[in-house]
Amino acid sequence: MNAPLFERAAPVFFEERVDSTNLYLRRLSATAADGTAVIAGAQSAGRGRSGRSFLSPEGGLYLSVLLRPELEPERLPTLTPVAAVAVCRAVETVCGARCGIKWPNDVLLGGKKICGILVESVLGGEKNCVIVGIGINANTPSFPEELRPIAGSIAAVTGGQVDLRALAAAVLAEFDALYAAWLADGGGAALAEYRSLCLNVGRELLVGERRGRGLAVGDDYSLLVRFSDGAEEALRFGEVSVRGLY
Ligand code: BTN
Repeated sequence: MNAPLFERAAPVFFEERVDSTNLYLRRLSATAADGTAVIAGAQSAGRGRSGRSFLSPEGGLYLSVLLRPELEPERLPTLTPVAAVAVCRAVETVCGARCGIKWPNDVLLGGKKICGILVESVLGGEKNCVIVGIGINANTPSFPEELRPIAGSIAAVTGGQVDLRALAAAVLAEFDALYAAWLADGGGAALAEYRSLCLNVGRELLVGERRGRGLAVGDDYSLLVRFSDGAEEALRFGEVSVRGLY
């Protein structure tokens, strides 16, 4: 007999439409159990990084997980790339497509961004938690003109409709497993896989106004860049453009 798709210790909520799955869990943060997840079919106010919005029409998959890790906040930045590895694994299993990761955590397929990840901390006594939000353009039918050079959907590349339920189950299962490993080792278990998926290494990069080349991913998931003036720096956060990718 097939195992149920969503067998996990913590609850999973399903919603057709929410404002934002991250906000949904934030509202539950005083009482929700560690690992509580929400999966939505659309968002009216999807949140992106750096205060941007995240386009979230029907056809996409929007999910968030609330976590209560007992560890130093300095370790948190490595959780985002680990989540990106979970998405790549799930897309490969369910859709048969191999994605890449544009450092630190955009998941790309066919040269376009098919997934964004936003990790937010909630502070305040019993509310204290981390919310990992994952938005995947699975069957997203179209994008506004300004996003077309950047954003794509899995379905556009594979040519078939993605089974959203199977994808959601696979993302959660992969994320749960990698999160358990991350609690133990800070992301070491996913590092080799992240390095093999990272699209920035060996490519021409633009960091702000500075040109450089991606050299390697460090043990802390930083991106080592050699700039055109010869200086080498390990980037720990920020936005990096990759030549040839949107
Ligand atoms: C980005 O690339 O800027 C990050 C986008 C993160 C979007 C996801 S969709 C599920 C979760 N809920 C949100 O409001 N945002 C994240």
